[in-house]
Amino acid sequence: MSKPFYITTAIDYVNGKPHLGHAYEKVIADVIARTRRSLGREVFFLTGLDEHGQKVQQAAIAEKKSPQAYCDELAAEWQAFARKLELTNNDFVRTTQARHKQTVQACLERVRAAGHFYRQTYSGFYSLKEETFLTEKDRLPDGSFDPAWGEVIELKEDNYFFRLGEHQQWLMDYIAQNPDFIAPEYRRNEVLGFLKSSVLEDLCISRPVSRLSWGIPIPFDAEYVTYVWFDALVNYISIPAAHGDAAVIAAVGGLASSLPDAGGTPAPLQLWPADVHVIGKDILKFHAVYWPIMLKALGLPLPRQILVHGWWQKDGQRMSKSTGNVVDPIAVINEWGVDAFRYYVLRELDIGPDGNWTDAGFRARYSAELARGLGNFINRSLTMLKRYRNGIVPQRSDELAADTARAVEEVRSLLERSHLQAALQAIQSLISRGDKYIEQTAPFKLAKEPAQAGRLDAVLYNLAETCRIVAILFQPFLPGTAAKIYAQLGLAGKADKFSETAWGQLQAGHKIGEPAALFPLKEEK
Ligand code: ME8
Ligand code: MG
Repeated sequence: MSKPFYITTAIDYVNGKPHLGHAYEKVIADVIARTRRSLGREVFFLTGLDEHGQKVQQAAIAEKKSPQAYCDELAAEWQAFARKLELTNNDFVRTTQARHKQTVQACLERVRAAGHFYRQTYSGFYSLKEETFLTEKDRLPDGSFDPAWGEVIELKEDNYFFRLGEHQQWLMDYIAQNPDFIAPEYRRNEVLGFLKSSVLEDLCISRPVSRLSWGIPIPFDAEYVTYVWFDALVNYISIPAAHGDAAVIAAVGGLASSLPDAGGTPAPLQLWPADVHVIGKDILKFHAVYWPIMLKALGLPLPRQILVHGWWQKDGQRMSKSTGNVVDPIAVINEWGVDAFRYYVLRELDIGPDGNWTDAGFRARYSAELARGLGNFINRSLTMLKRYRNGIVPQRSDELAADTARAVEEVRSLLERSHLQAALQAIQSLISRGDKYIEQTAPFKLAKEPAQAGRLDAVLYNLAETCRIVAILFQPFLPGTAAKIYAQLGLAGKADKFSETAWGQLQAGHKIGEPAALFPLKEEK
């Protein structure tokens, strides 16, 4: 049984509507998923929702709803959002589902049985908003706590703790020996620096029901629910378990008999370890420190890579609902189309640094790179073929074959390393090459000279074949546009197989479809 390429996103808190940051991360993961499929791998792409914990409980109370009813309503909205983004996720996890909860409880039993937990009284400061215990180190120079922590209360309560310290050296060694485990590299260095300079504090994995009831009951103590991060991280293995992943089921224990229905398909999948966890920079410590230690305690291998993206601002300011400074991805998609949105976020921002959304920047890229760049190249090429040769593909000619092959190999190599922004730039260079070819060969002049008919045939073939290859290269990013280009070329298949970028597949005599603008230029408002 071959193991699918398994890619995940962070699961979003359902305490509000999706925004640009959520959309960005999901699009990154979708492009990687589609890329791997195009390159011939089977892929399992998981995304979903984090429904337990204080934030969600408070949001539900504020709307005078039960937490479950509140989550159910919003989950429908978030699932519709995933479709709006044209995500090709293979499953959608909600942490309130039985298939997830039973794995979390089985994990808790297993880690406890292996002796990693202890119970202790804690007294100190606690951030309600971030659900985190604070220490003296978290105070600002003036003695207060950063407003980002929200309301900070003093607490004295009994809880269960996960002993982390004994795994610290192992984790440092692992990260040091596996240079690709955390990407980009400066995020890896950040984790190593943190591990070298501080002693890991034990992780509190329980919350008393009296204070927070909206969580997964701790199986060995009914007075407690599970800390939301222990719960949430487990989604990456609970869904594999639900699909019959034998290694996870064996490690976690107590699941095989109650294996839930995975949608009527009995063939079990082997998914773990994940190939990529795509996450934002703010949750790096949870994924690069707590999660590996949880996995080690369960005896499971670590994910191959944690891919860490930066944060978007709007107009140079943090996005915030209270000031109304937000980008609503749904509004952008309704106005400009989903491909324009997917293109902009990945072209504008490399995976790593922080980015800044401006409406002017979005419009500028739309006009220059989609309408005038890609759109214009395809339209000019196919319109000329239509006009001068009645849409019939002429004899094969290989003038652009070598340049195209070079671009294809560059794009492939960048995509294999998930360098999505650079891949888009490389595809763009191929379009520029095509534009230059039109300028140099001047097919509109050739068309006026009957003696140049053979030359015009060659030029038109090179342009049409380049259009076809460009469609395949863009397909993971712009699936709808790639399909339109294929339709305009009169091709029946989908532009979704990287292997078909090999030059010369357009056949002489084939009749193309109707050229039409892909990205209409819009009036400046
Ligand atoms: O952290 N720009 O959920 P979340 C880019 N439930 N990315 C952003 C962003 C922005 N402005 N704002 C948020 C959680 N994100 C947990 C995750 S995973 C087991 C549990 C990203 O809804 C953020 O970095 O607060 C994170 O990766 C994702 O959106 C969900 O954030
Ligand atoms: Mg957050």
